Amino acid sequence: MRKTKIHPWPVRLCHWINLPVMIGMVMSGWGIYNADPLFAFTFPQSATLGGWLGGNIAWHLAIMWLLAANGLFYLLWGLLSGHFSRRLLPVTPTSVWQDLRRALRFALPHSAGHYNAVQKVMYLAVLLLGILLVVSGLSIWKPVQLSGLVALLGGFTLARYVHFFAMSGIVLFVVIHLIMVLLVPKTLPAMITGGNAGVIKKQEQVDE
Ligand code: HEM
Repeated sequence: MRKTKIHPWPVRLCHWINLPVMIGMVMSGWGIYNADPLFAFTFPQSATLGGWLGGNIAWHLAIMWLLAANGLFYLLWGLLSGHFSRRLLPVTPTSVWQDLRRALRFALPHSAGHYNAVQKVMYLAVLLLGILLVVSGLSIWKPVQLSGLVALLGGFTLARYVHFFAMSGIVLFVVIHLIMVLLVPKTLPAMITGGNAGVIKKQEQVDE
């Protein structure tokens, strides 16, 4: 019998550290964007962090270290412990299509400790977006030292667009993620406490 929690502590720790970190990064990033917008709009001053450009940058570069350390720990732990291969894989186009249709009909069953294909693809996508966000962010932070990375992303301006769209993808993920949590609120306590290992064993038997 595998003694396990629905969500092991490293997942919960990284997940909840990531929440304020993401809010801080996005809000300070919006402030930096406002100083030299890529598009014909700016973000409301009240939705930014830092007060002025210098403050926005200081917050962004300070919180960045938390994001990188937390993300790196989660990635390494997820890969080495088998969490990613166990919980986020396999995911096939057919399973995503089937579960997406079920989700749109509000008929997608949710079992504790088991992600459906839509969740798997969303969590994998946000992981990749997070990596893209950090890589593009590094390239526009140190464009001279990391000129190879800037070239790989198509130049400095394109790297800014990549950074912006990676942020937008993550914000969109969070909006959908929160709607899903609101629709299935019973998933939330386990993400805080870890959940009951007994439930996962029974559920796995049902699934098999
Ligand atoms: C108030 C905000 C948030 C709430 C209430 C929340 C809630 C949850 C819950 C309940 C789960 C488990 C779902 C399940 O068991 O089916 C989960 C998983 C997850 N959430 Fe969030 N979340 C929030 C913010 C975020 C943010 C900002 C991100 C990333 C940008 C994120 C990324 C993830 C990922 C990647 C997983 C899967 C983790 C894994 O198993 O490795 N969440 N979240």
